[in-house]
Amino acid sequence: MSQRTVRHFLQIPDFSRQELLDTLDLAARMKRGEYTEKPLAGKTLAMIFAKSSTRTRVSFEVGTVQLGGHALFLSSRDIQLGRGEPIRDMARVLSRYVDGIMIRTFDQQDLVDLATYGSVPIINGLTDLLHPCQIMADLLTIQENFGADLSGVKVAWVGDGNNMANSWLNAAYRLGFELRLAYPAGYEPDAAILERARGAANIITTRDPAEAVAGADVVNTDVWASMGQEDESAKRAADFQGYCITEEMMETATDRAVFLHCLPAHRGEEVTEGVLEGPRSRVWDEAENRLHVQKAIMATLMG
Ligand code: CP
Ligand code: NVA
Repeated sequence: MSQRTVRHFLQIPDFSRQELLDTLDLAARMKRGEYTEKPLAGKTLAMIFAKSSTRTRVSFEVGTVQLGGHALFLSSRDIQLGRGEPIRDMARVLSRYVDGIMIRTFDQQDLVDLATYGSVPIINGLTDLLHPCQIMADLLTIQENFGADLSGVKVAWVGDGNNMANSWLNAAYRLGFELRLAYPAGYEPDAAILERARGAANIITTRDPAEAVAGADVVNTDVWASMGQEDESAKRAADFQGYCITEEMMETATDRAVFLHCLPAHRGEEVTEGVLEGPRSRVWDEAENRLHVQKAIMATLMG
């Protein structure tokens, strides 16, 4: 009997360029209501959360139900993981019960361990290093505004070289679009991920947000202090002065430019109220698109 290889979505490069485009196409079809299959019928997704979530939790649970399956919310505080049960043990046990695991946690290595010791697909719902499902939603939003071919789009990232920035680099690595990143000294993205992307796409790094935004089609930012960095909020607020996306800054982007933010947003810090609520903002479409891309990812991996 041939055994199917288990696929995972721990990072964007786990999918080939064509698989990423196919997944985005499937997500768009799901959004248009053209896909009525129930590939998760009789299947269960375990959703492990070691950090807070609104969008990820709700969109994965709703998406699983819409595909005919059942989702289990597991706070890491309530399961034995929180009392020190090793990831490799949990991976083998959960694999006997469920058909896929979505996890939001701190250490990317925990996802690698889950994938290594478990026998079901693992999906990254955010780690300190990466947030690939969010970038898939952002890519779908970009396609909705500029068409399916992403290669000619210029994307600006302004802010922390965090999990979002690293995943943008991974997307540029696979899809080849121009990516400009503006971040202060000390807030660099992951060095290996940056170098890998530089080999495949035009990656521009700068300390000057204005340089990144001028002529960009997509302007994207995120909170200055991510989950787990709350103690650094005051220092970061000082270090990120000048990194707020304003209406004036958006005027220097292309005429067609859109603003994206993964949310939750801190109005008046990384973005003004006027930009977030303004005509260029696509943040609500972007949040909705989490649902569609994650359904496409689950159908691909667990269907
Ligand atoms: N953007 C995002 O991942 O939101 P949540 O933290 O609410 O899941
Ligand atoms: N960079 C943020 C993203 C939240 C969706 C964080 O990790 O908290």
